[in-house]
Amino acid sequence: MQKNLSPKTVAESVVENHTYKIFPNDLNSYGTAFGGMILAICDRVALVVAERHSKRTCVTASIDSVHFLQPAGQGDILLFKAAINHAWKTSMEIGVRVDAEHYVTGEKRHILSAYFTFVALDENKKPVEVAKVLPKTSLEKRRFQEAIDRREVRIQEAKERKRKRAGG
Ligand SMILES: CC(C)(COP(=O)(O)OP(=O)(O)OC[C@H]1O[C@@H](n2cnc3c(N)ncnc32)[C@H](O)[C@@H]1OP(=O)(O)O)[C@@H](O)C(=O)NCCC(=O)NCCS
Repeated sequence: MQKNLSPKTVAESVVENHTYKIFPNDLNSYGTAFGGMILAICDRVALVVAERHSKRTCVTASIDSVHFLQPAGQGDILLFKAAINHAWKTSMEIGVRVDAEHYVTGEKRHILSAYFTFVALDENKKPVEVAKVLPKTSLEKRRFQEAIDRREVRIQEAKERKRKRAGG
């Protein structure tokens, strides 16, 4: 089924404030929040953005620039923000930022940022075209531009991996 491919704004798919309260079963043996748990939530939140933008089922193709900047601890509230940076033919880059808010003081710390690339799939599970992104604010325009360079790096890395697998 052909979808409406007219360009969409970032605001149409953004996730502004998804919250998650850290409980004891979210901690690693060091006593801080388990990074894999945080990344899994990031993946879901970013998926919501990709599927809102494309109106398609999407899969994660890659995750890059994952930086755990500071630990989060028991009792902290995690705040997730995700927005589309750029869309190409069938793929989209979604930026995710996570802050930890202390439930008593309200102090917020930036704990993680990452870029997720999703690919939209059609009914036959084949990559399918998505709407372009219409950046409006200066921040959205900057992210739109920067995403182009990151895509170049991803494409080069993918080529290199293929070459190595082929024994070249
Ligand atoms: C992602 C996937 C659908 C791409 O399929 P493919 O046959 O390699 O598709 P193509 O080579 O035609 O590329 C399609 C798009 O994916 C992008 N892409 C492919 N591999 C990528 C990667 N590793 N990182 C970023 N983008 C990637 C391409 O750049 C292309 O984007 P464009 O159309 O916007 O230019 C396929 O590799 C796949 O199914 N991977 C597994 C996904 C998965 O299971 N994720 C985890 C669970 S959700």
